[in-house]
Amino acid sequence: MNLSINNLSKTYPNGVQALKEVSLTIGKGMYGLLGQNGAGKSTLMRTIATLQDADQGTISFNGIDVLKQPEELRKVLGYLPQDFGVYPNVSAEELLLHIGEMKGITQQNECQDQVKFILNKVNLYDVRKKRLDSYSGGMKQRFGIAQALLGDPQLIIVDEPTAGLDPMERNRFYNLLSELGENIVVILSTHIVEDVSTLCNDMAIIGQGKVLLTGSPDEVQASLMGKVWEKQIGKSELNEHYEKYDVISNHFHMGKMMVTIVAEEMPNGAFVKKTPTLEDAYFNLIHNQQKTVLL
Ligand SMILES: Nc1ncnc2c1ncn2[C@@H]1O[C@H](COP(=O)(O)OP(=O)(O)O)[C@@H](O)[C@H]1O
Ligand SMILES: [Mg+2]
Repeated sequence: MNLSINNLSKTYPNGVQALKEVSLTIGKGMYGLLGQNGAGKSTLMRTIATLQDADQGTISFNGIDVLKQPEELRKVLGYLPQDFGVYPNVSAEELLLHIGEMKGITQQNECQDQVKFILNKVNLYDVRKKRLDSYSGGMKQRFGIAQALLGDPQLIIVDEPTAGLDPMERNRFYNLLSELGENIVVILSTHIVEDVSTLCNDMAIIGQGKVLLTGSPDEVQASLMGKVWEKQIGKSELNEHYEKYDVISNHFHMGKMMVTIVAEEMPNGAFVKKTPTLEDAYFNLIHNQQKTVLL
């Protein structure tokens, strides 16, 4: 089972080039697509989900030519869009039964059984009769996963599913997502590094429509081994550090300013070598891409 994206490009009518020759091979399990706002994640996901066209390139999933046979892909797809839209004044159970019917589960018994099974899985069974518009943010996202699971999909796409969840809700949602990925292809897009390090066995980082790096989170992280350095500084020293070094991030730690830089060799000026994190690798790629644009 495998999703293969080849040389996919897309320019919107307003001239924004949202995807630039994107090629990815995605196997079973949870795949993380990490990138900043505007990187092109939603464009890529809507294209895979057959909701919009590309200018060039191909997508294939288990022998289905996705761009030429959209109705075939839709039969095996579960999709949670970034903006799942309005939550109507009906119960979770009612809406799931309705969506199940639309997805082609025509046997009423079968549809009822599947809805019950999924409501239990996403832990909404006890509140299945409550109106969706009374649900919390976390409950709405779990409902979003429930509708994506209907019809036994082989490919699930979830676009920024954890944005806006509080830490407890996010944790619950992680538990739910981590159960999905084993036997099907799940693609999760996010701008949150922790989503990827917690959930994904394979990943890509995209920036300005381009694939910047692919690999397992461990490999991506290890790509900077021995090259990351950090130092505690005074706030007033920040600018000169940005001028002098390749600063990839700065943050406060217990009230003190810390800068993280990338350098091939031990830099002058009291830096300490740091074990690279996935976040360091991500910030470094974005830093390099922005630097290239400025030059
Ligand atoms: N329908 C559209 N028309 C014009 N530009 C768009 C449209 N959708 C997205 N874009 C632009 O394409 C780029 C990529 O957007 P998007 O795919 O939504 O990125 P992400 O999901 O990573 O934030 C952005 O510059 C965005 O403004
Ligand atoms: Mg998006």
